[in-house]
Amino acid sequence: MTDVATDTVLKIENLNVFYGSNLAVKEVSLDIPLNKVVAFIGPSGCGKSTVLRCLNRMNDLIPSARIDGKITFHGNDIYAKQVDPVDLRCRVGMVFQQPNPFPKSIYENIAFGARLNGFKGDMAELVETSLRKASVWDETKDKLHQSGLALSGGQQQRLCIARTIAVKPDVILMDEPCAALDPISTLKIEELIHELKKEYTIVIVTHNMQQASRVSDLTAFYNAEATDKGSKVGYLVEYDKTEVVFQNPAQKATRDYVSGRFG
Ligand SMILES: Nc1ncnc2c1ncn2[C@@H]1O[C@H](COP(=O)(O)OP(=O)(O)OP(=O)(O)O)[C@@H](O)[C@H]1O
Ligand SMILES: [Mg+2]
Repeated sequence: MTDVATDTVLKIENLNVFYGSNLAVKEVSLDIPLNKVVAFIGPSGCGKSTVLRCLNRMNDLIPSARIDGKITFHGNDIYAKQVDPVDLRCRVGMVFQQPNPFPKSIYENIAFGARLNGFKGDMAELVETSLRKASVWDETKDKLHQSGLALSGGQQQRLCIARTIAVKPDVILMDEPCAALDPISTLKIEELIHELKKEYTIVIVTHNMQQASRVSDLTAFYNAEATDKGSKVGYLVEYDKTEVVFQNPAQKATRDYVSGRFG
């Protein structure tokens, strides 16, 4: 990989992920640098969501999932015994494909998690700051006590980002955050990602090549190959600066994928 001189926030070393006895992703190693946007791209089933979910131990919630290898967050092993996955998920937050606000008011969507987290400060201020940072304040400031579910899909997604920001993460993981959104809402999220990276490190899974090239600094291309058992296993093909992956990739498979000649 070409030189990228920055601090590493998350480091994946030789990660294998199993679901039951099935190896789903093998031998992934990559560094996620501070205040960068990293895109995960690749065909369906190559393990993008699986790797992403390992970064904040979301895979712990899938009983059959098991990993080996090592993931460190600011140098600390996130799978070490003393790590509380709930704390980890505050530091490494996640936004999903389908906007999923709580069935509560806009205000409570932000306040709920903060309160659970022991937040003792000025809640109204936290709500406003979080909504502002997620670029959804102007659209919500006059209806903070109405249901979050009454917002449009794009507004709901920005509310979910605000909710994630409210617990002061370092990293925001996004799994196809625009897949359920129209083009204008998608553009708003992309602009928001540009703003957010000043303060946060972002990892985004996307099927949209233009989106990956617009929003990310680095791109990881994953692919999958057949195993002896007839199942498929995902692996990392290439990880580099986004312009290299899109314009001058080292691997033919990457070139074929980003130019749409894949398959
Ligand atoms: N909860 C699960 N239980 C068992 N197998 C799973 C589970 N989640 C994913 N897998 C398997 O792991 C592999 C990788 O899946 P994953 O969802 O990570 O791929 P992906 O790259 O995110 O695909 P997509 O682009 O379709 O979202 C696939 O073979 C999938 O069937
Ligand atoms: Mg996925």
